[in-house]
Amino acid sequence: MISAQAPVKENGGAEPSAVAYVLRARALTKTYGEGASAVHALKGVDLDLRPGEFVVILGPSGSGKSTLLNILGGLDTATSGQVLFNGLDITAADTSALTKYRRDRVGFVFQFYNLIASLTAEENVALVTEIARAPIPPAKALALVGLGPRAHHFPAELSGGEQQRVAIARAIAKSPELLLCDEPTGALDSETGVTVLEALDRVNRELGAATAVITHNAGIAAMADRVISMRDGQIAEDHANATRVPPREISW
Ligand SMILES: Nc1ncnc2c1ncn2[C@@H]1O[C@H](COP(=O)(O)OP(=O)(O)O)[C@@H](O)[C@H]1O
Ligand SMILES: [Mg+2]
Repeated sequence: MISAQAPVKENGGAEPSAVAYVLRARALTKTYGEGASAVHALKGVDLDLRPGEFVVILGPSGSGKSTLLNILGGLDTATSGQVLFNGLDITAADTSALTKYRRDRVGFVFQFYNLIASLTAEENVALVTEIARAPIPPAKALALVGLGPRAHHFPAELSGGEQQRVAIARAIAKSPELLLCDEPTGALDSETGVTVLEALDRVNRELGAATAVITHNAGIAAMADRVISMRDGQIAEDHANATRVPPREISW
């Protein structure tokens, strides 16, 4: 828990934010470097994530998507602005509170799977569950992503899509409230990518972690509850989908 900090009061404390939102970001900016070479990667981003919702973040390369996700997940710090996780200010958290936030509350999936080659799928997942606050059994996490029969295989014995699903099982085995995915299908062909998106869709529905998926593939937006488009360090568009299209039916 990020218990060292008192909850930040919003609107003078009138609003019970912990119920309605798992994450609230306000006026986030991020500047890399300084002076003439400064890069303004985020220029004032407001974003709310509700418990269990599935959000796709679109935008051209360099628009600030990864910077935003890294700040939301506590991997990077904002230059200014605030991020509240269940009402607790992670932008003001000390190093040890941030470590606990990343370890216990946030699951990450990246484009490259970063599995340990000398450990089986189940052992890769167990690495995380051994240190997590509220783990689910590695075998159950692997079954959720359709890899029950592959639990004892090594990464080299698995396809790219299967390795990415192990990475998803590893990310969700800690029962995170937030699942942050940066281009999870970026290295995969479309057929394999669909199996990965199906795994994300299923774990989102069954475990209820608020899920944010960065992609530059606009077709993927159809599977989301909500689609956020970034441009030049800002949110250019934020709209809700009427329905979530199953990944299998998406054309991309
Ligand atoms: N560590 C860094 N140092 C300097 N500039 C960076 C760094 N990370 C990202 N940037 C710059 O910030 C901007 C946003 O990058 P990024 O968030 O990676 O965008 P996206 O994920 O949408 O492609 C880009 O101009 C990028 O070059
Ligand atoms: Mg990126």
